[in-house]
Formats: sequence, C-alpha cells, structure tokens
Amino acid sequence: MPQLRRQDRYATLRGMESRLKLLEILADGRFRSGEDLGAYLGVSRAAVWKQLRALKRLGIEIQAVRGRGYRLAYPIEFLHADTLRSRLSASAQAAIPRLDIFAELDSTNTYLKARAQEGAPCGAVCLAETQHAGRGRLGRVWVSPFACNLYLSLLWRFAAGPAALAGLSLVAGVALVQALKNLVPRGLGLKWPNDVQWQGRKLAGVLIEIAGESSGPSHAVIGIGINVRMPDAAAQEIGQPWTDLIRCLGEAPSRNTLAAAVLEALIESLRVFEREGLARFLEAWREHDVMAGKSVQLHLPNAVIAGEAQGIDDQGALLLRVGDELRRFAAGEISLRMPS
Ligand code: BTN
Repeated sequence: MPQLRRQDRYATLRGMESRLKLLEILADGRFRSGEDLGAYLGVSRAAVWKQLRALKRLGIEIQAVRGRGYRLAYPIEFLHADTLRSRLSASAQAAIPRLDIFAELDSTNTYLKARAQEGAPCGAVCLAETQHAGRGRLGRVWVSPFACNLYLSLLWRFAAGPAALAGLSLVAGVALVQALKNLVPRGLGLKWPNDVQWQGRKLAGVLIEIAGESSGPSHAVIGIGINVRMPDAAAQEIGQPWTDLIRCLGEAPSRNTLAAAVLEALIESLRVFEREGLARFLEAWREHDVMAGKSVQLHLPNAVIAGEAQGIDDQGALLLRVGDELRRFAAGEISLRMPS
C-alpha cells in the first residue's frame, strides 16, 4: 500500500498543518535549535516560538534549554494507518474496509455515527490524535489531550434490531481487557458495565451508541478511550480516580500496536457475539468483576440506590442486593460507584 499523503492521513484544520510539521521533527525527543526549526518550516524564529506555544496549548509538554533549543518532554509516536494495518492479522485487516485517522476531531464516535448514516461499511474505523468534544457515558466529558492516549471508534452493522444488542456493552469490556492483558498481565478489572480498571482506577472506557429499526437491521458505534500517557494538566479535568498505561507499565507502549490489538480483539469478539450471543463472554466478565460482593451506590437518573453488588445475570444485567431483595438493573443511564 503506498504511503498516505499528509492530507489523506490527517484532516487538518487551519494552522494545524505547520504545528504537525513541527511536531514531526520534534517527535524523536531530541533537542533542536529555534533556528533549525525555523529553517525546516521556512519561517522566522518568532513564528517557531508562536507555533511552540500553540503546541503547549494542545497539552504537549515542550522543554526549552538555553543553548540547546527545544525538545518534547517525551517522544511522540503518531498514529499511522499503514503502521496500524501492518500490525493486524489478515482476517482483521479484511474486516476493516475503511480506516480514518485525524489529527483533531470533535469526537470519533460523533464522526463515525454521521458516516454510518451516510452508509459507511461495517468495520469502518476512526481514530483521532485529539478530541475537542470527546464523550463518555452518561453525558460526561472524555478528556482527550493530543497524541497521548487512544481515542478509537469502530462501526459494526447487525442484521438484528437494537434489542438484540443489549449484551454488547459487556462484550466490548471483555474484548478490551483481553487486548490490554498482553501488556498488563495483572491487576485489570471490569466495573459494570464496561469500565476497565487497573488497581481500582479507571484505565479505559467504552461508549456504545446504537441505532436501527426495531426488527433490524441496526448498527453500533463502539467508542474506546484508553489512557496511555495522561498529562498532569489534562488529568485535572478528570472527575474520578484514573490511571494510565505509563503508570501500569513504567513506559508507554506503541499506540499503533495497542490500537491494532484493540481492533483485533473487538472484531473477533463481535464475530463470536453475532454467532453465539453474550453467553460466551459471561465467564470472562465475571472473572474480572471488581465490584462483586462490595457495598455500592447505583446512581439512576432520579434516585440513588445503595446495596451490595452481586455480579451479573445471564443477560448482563447488574444484580444488586437491597435489603432482602435481589434487584436487577439493565445498563442504561446508570452509574455504579463506591460510597464516598
Ligand atoms: C466512558 O467510560 O465514559 C466511555 C468513554 C469513551 C471514550 C471514547 S474515546 C473514543 C470515542 N469517542 C468519544 O467521544 N468517546 C469514545
């Protein structure tokens, strides 16, 4: 496959093009003088300085040392369609007819939902280096600093209607844990319905948006956010205990390899789910359940219910012991929390 041109690889907004060029030369983490950078970009040192400030506003940490110049606080590996594809199995490659990578987007889910309406094929994938309006479950914001983490969405089409996809949320959580397990063999867990935690802190989340006819067909946009290297400044906006892969592993994994592993696991899981339903995933989900047996609070749109989490039933609904009663809650506008 020929190397993609920048315009194909990145949909750039005004001003982003020269910032990306600057980032590309700084990506290896070595010092470059302002003069060299200016010569490379064909602009003055003052213009370089302006671009460096713009990069800092994107959340990129840049070190300036007198006499040596500028360098990134850590090297950046950009997402790249050819690199990502080369790390997929032939079967996963064949399942992804379209792979869009953007420097910046509002949200990869929003983008793919719109493409789905226009007829984008099953298996279409979208990633972005940053999201300006990244969305989490329950209307929350998903903090999405530039080139630090993974923001990925996959479109999957089903012959059945939305009601048949009730278990999908748990399936995606299990797939995500499987993909991450190669990197992080111990300490991963799932908080219902599909938050991935490491040692009790959120490492990754899944936002699934489903649309379709009640009797089918339907489609789901499965959005995955994984914290790889969360910069301190961005982390201040996160309203819950969080972690990232740097903290789990001591070093940043390749984001292209990670994206490929996530897609591989998701596609395989979706195929199994279409054939066999949720049943094949229940055991794996239960093995990773971090809430079972714990006192929890369930936040519903209009009420908070306290009880003891009792795992999930065979349809993937949460079981909660409230007094003498065992109550069941299907995923939806519900947030499960430890009492504060
Ligand atoms: C959650 O745990 O609340 C779900 C987080 C999902 C975040 C991902 S990042 C890629 C995709 N695009 C979005 O706007 N959200 C999802």
